[in-house]
Amino acid sequence: MVDIRTGGVLATMRPELRRVEERLEDAARIDYPAVSELILGLVRAGGKRLRPLVLLLAGRAFSSDPATLATAGAGVELLHTASLVHDDTVDRAALRRGRPTLNSILSSGAVILLGDFLFAQSAMLAAATNSPRVVSIFASTLADICDGQLREMFVAHRLDQTREEYERRIFGKTASLFAGAAEMGAIIGAAPEDDVRALRGYGSDIGMAFQIVDDVLDFREATEQLGKPAGHDLTQGTVTLPTMIYASGLTEGSDALIRLRDVVSGDNDEPAAVQRVVQEIRASGALETAMREAETFAARAKERTAVVPDADTREMLIEVADIVCERSA
Ligand code: IPE
Ligand code: IPE
Ligand code: MG
Ligand code: MG
Repeated sequence: MVDIRTGGVLATMRPELRRVEERLEDAARIDYPAVSELILGLVRAGGKRLRPLVLLLAGRAFSSDPATLATAGAGVELLHTASLVHDDTVDRAALRRGRPTLNSILSSGAVILLGDFLFAQSAMLAAATNSPRVVSIFASTLADICDGQLREMFVAHRLDQTREEYERRIFGKTASLFAGAAEMGAIIGAAPEDDVRALRGYGSDIGMAFQIVDDVLDFREATEQLGKPAGHDLTQGTVTLPTMIYASGLTEGSDALIRLRDVVSGDNDEPAAVQRVVQEIRASGALETAMREAETFAARAKERTAVVPDADTREMLIEVADIVCERSA
């Protein structure tokens, strides 16, 4: 298992990531004491910082502009953090990064406004790069995230979803930001256009792998391990790849399919019933099959790093693709 805190890429990139951290804290400060502590608490609680890491690596792959990369890196991390604040409100989740969510402490109105504040601060960081292209990617990524989240909301509680629909919404809600992070980094690093495209593809592929793994971890790990509620997707009626794979192996009219339908539709929200279906999905091999799909995306991401001229950076991008698949939180 790759230790996300001590892996080679994280040790090498620590100085640059520290600079991102400083920018993040400055941007997360709000001139309102009680709320300021809550937001800083969320930002300081960590998180894996994978999106800024991808941005920094894509940037240093060509020519390096460390100050601008750190600013943009903080921008993508804050955009991610803002999306989590709104996501937890939508998902009614009680825990994030091992701490109570803002929505479990404040009114929905306050949480929506705080999320907006973080979105605005992240946009300011994007603007501070002085690159209209970075700002434009930033804006289109935010639109993609909302698109993915809305699609997820509108197909909730339905088992009749296609694989294409699933991939489209996980691209929107998650992979788009990894793709944007890699693209922004490459642009700041003045990479040739073909390479900007290749790195965007790399980000998109590891982002897809990342969300599939997240969907597996939701079934596989405990809440304490994740720092966010485990088994939450099924409780919310969110049908993810493991559930789709499991459902496709069930016979029409079988008791297992009836139990699954009852839970996904929300007709049966008894914790014991949800737990039983979670166990059945775990035992079915669907998690392993989903992991193989994540690994296929990660393998394609690795192939796309061939364009990167600097061997050290290429190795680190490959290591990130492994971290994404081997993580357990
Ligand atoms: C969580 O992202 C949201 C998803 C896209 C699944 P992370 O797992 O990267 O969250 P942090 O930043 O490390 O807390
Ligand atoms: C959220 O996806 C992705 C966002 C863009 C916020 P999830 O709902 O799966 O994320 P977690 O599991 O709450 O972190
Ligand atoms: Mg969520
Ligand atoms: Mg999740």
